Amino acid sequence: MPGWRNGLRRGLKILDPKGFVGSNPTPGTESMNNSDQFNKVTQELEELARTYSAKKGSPGYEEIWVPGDQVKLWSVPRQTGQLLRLFTLAKKPPIILELGTSAGYSAIWLASAAKEYGGKVYTVELAKPKIRMAEKYFKAAGLDGYIEQIEGKIEEVLNKWDKTINFVFLDADKMKYATYIQQFEKHLGEGAIIIADNAISHADLMKDYLDYVGKSDSYISHLITIDNGLMVSIKR
Ligand SMILES: C[S@@+](CC[C@H](N)C(=O)[O-])C[C@H]1O[C@@H](n2cnc3c(N)ncnc32)[C@H](O)[C@@H]1O
Repeated sequence: MPGWRNGLRRGLKILDPKGFVGSNPTPGTESMNNSDQFNKVTQELEELARTYSAKKGSPGYEEIWVPGDQVKLWSVPRQTGQLLRLFTLAKKPPIILELGTSAGYSAIWLASAAKEYGGKVYTVELAKPKIRMAEKYFKAAGLDGYIEQIEGKIEEVLNKWDKTINFVFLDADKMKYATYIQQFEKHLGEGAIIIADNAISHADLMKDYLDYVGKSDSYISHLITIDNGLMVSIKR
């Protein structure tokens, strides 16, 4: 293997999210000023995302119902959580809207920032057991005062939405992102940030959305190639 490739491999290893900013951060590598309580809850949720799996018909499946044959508790990787927190701290959006709560991992990262300047995270989820699970983790992280859980279908919640939004995190059913943005864009404040997860891993499912934010004069968009790919768009 040519030397430069070896170097690249070594470089990638250093940046490997599992070893560098992974689920069990080495003291001094994370610099996020988070509490022990925060680290305990986020690590527990990372473990759940790695291990939780319930097949149709099993007790776990009943407990955590969503459509499909097998249920997993997906959540963003820790590095994405850290970036969400950094973007939030840089922008200080009074209102953050998250589409897709699951067990609450990404909302906890967003709310950890919102807590520092008095912002609020609204997070939407349709699966009742996940809503209850997230509620438990929000309390355990001491962040429940900065998060409002909205139960329901995203499309229906957006139809009734009436607040100005300054930050959106899209992490639900990828094929519908293009519909969702057209529903909420009239509520976006100037300079609002929209971050869509899975812009690399599920680019095919999100093609309409990626085309929309990429071609529209209303947004400046840039793909951040970490983890599953984050399409970051700023409303002009
Ligand atoms: C990838 S998970 C969210 C992960 C979460 N953002 C995190 O990183 O911790 C997507 C979630 O969106 C929810 N969801 C999918 N389509 C939905 C819809 N139309 N309305 C409400 N929730 C939906 C699913 O039930 C699932 O829990």
